[in-house]
Amino acid sequence: MIRADVEIARIHPELHGQFAEHLGSCIYGGLWVGRESPIPNTNGFRADAVRWLKELGVPVLRWPGGCFADDYHWRDGVGPPKSRPRSLNVSWGNVIEDNSFGTHEFMELCRLIGAEPYLAGNVGSATPREMRDWVEYCNQPSGTTLSDLRISNGAKEPFRVKYWGVGNESWGCGGNMPAHYYGELYRRYSTFLHDIGGTELFLIASGPSGDDVRWTRELLDVCQTHMPAGLSMHYYSGGPAEATHFSAKQAEEQFAIFQSVEQAIIHQREVVNGYYHGDETALILDEWGVWDATDPIDEQKRGKLWQQSTMRSAVAAGLGLNLFNRQADKLYMCNIAQVMNVLQSLLLTDGPEGKNSVRTTTYFAFMLFKAHRGNMSVMTRADSDSPHSVSLSASRTDRSLVVSLVNSSATKAVTVRCKILGFPGTRVSGQMLHSNDLNAYNSFEQPDLLHPTTFSPRLEDGVLIVELPPLSVATATVEA
Ligand code: AHR
Repeated sequence: MIRADVEIARIHPELHGQFAEHLGSCIYGGLWVGRESPIPNTNGFRADAVRWLKELGVPVLRWPGGCFADDYHWRDGVGPPKSRPRSLNVSWGNVIEDNSFGTHEFMELCRLIGAEPYLAGNVGSATPREMRDWVEYCNQPSGTTLSDLRISNGAKEPFRVKYWGVGNESWGCGGNMPAHYYGELYRRYSTFLHDIGGTELFLIASGPSGDDVRWTRELLDVCQTHMPAGLSMHYYSGGPAEATHFSAKQAEEQFAIFQSVEQAIIHQREVVNGYYHGDETALILDEWGVWDATDPIDEQKRGKLWQQSTMRSAVAAGLGLNLFNRQADKLYMCNIAQVMNVLQSLLLTDGPEGKNSVRTTTYFAFMLFKAHRGNMSVMTRADSDSPHSVSLSASRTDRSLVVSLVNSSATKAVTVRCKILGFPGTRVSGQMLHSNDLNAYNSFEQPDLLHPTTFSPRLEDGVLIVELPPLSVATATVEA
């Protein structure tokens, strides 16, 4: 049943955010090929990637990590590229980081694809001064040495960066800190991070892995007088097999994790709300997605954590995006890991030298959910006789009701009948991504094998009827 008259909350477009890290071939050879590259590019960015990300719309892009963020020194990445230092990326395989992609390149990418930048600052191996200076470099209009340096490096206007992560996974790769110690650091850092040049900062503290309540409580006990604007949590759905070798049982196990993700969001929200003004701290799932087993040979050729995105991955994306809609009152931002060539990516190239790129099944799952952005999420209820494998969410404007349905069964087709209350629908249309093969994917030889196609849902006496084949992600749009 869909109760279009029972509103949950507005769906922040930021729930469809992305993440790009200096890891494998996400940045170098992926998004960034350099201006001299034989690969078609726009100001050094892979032209296909720019076009496709712009078409999809990326509400917010997080950078430079991940683990990399806590070993990143922003000054290394500004100024003439040739004179930038060369360092080691110790977080991801000791590869040489030539810093040719830095703050200005990232801002240019955000400008090209229309994304709001989200910078993750270094708490693990830097100082409050370093992060405070980065804020000044980015946001002060002019007149200080740092802002004048930005201008002389080619950016007359300030970057006006609002979202700042204060460290990443501080319980792990960000410094292996105990929660209370990180809490003290958070207080110290945030004291020196100020609104500058009229840009109001939105500081995001490094929150729990999964539903680690102990971390959240110990951190917030220390921060109660300095509650962060956002608390970041990370939740991956691990995979026991390589992306293209899943059995139906393994897929089922991976899909089941999304129920735990949803429970973790509900639970963490409850915990944070228990603090004074806690309800003003936004919950941010800034790393999520399926993390499958990787093939070391593939990784060597294509980059660390390079993973194919299959029909199963699209179903997983649909399960995630559906639950974000349902929990729209508890979540402010989510960033899938990662936008290109790493983990559950939206775009893939055949390694850093690969000329061709493809839009993955995950890209198309995001496309199918695009119509929800900014809408009011409304209540849905899987009726008692609905098959367990169907996941559902809905959102509305005055003129339309958007319904997303995911059938995660690898074998069973289902007919979903959904009574709609509170929205007088007259017409309905639909788009669906589907393959009977859970390991099917868009290859470089067949880049458009899987893409959404139109299908015909029905509307009969206020009941929405959708035939869902096994492994399908569908969106039905009901118009008033
Ligand atoms: O997304 C890959 C890694 O996963 C990130 O660098 C880290 O934050 C997390 O453990």
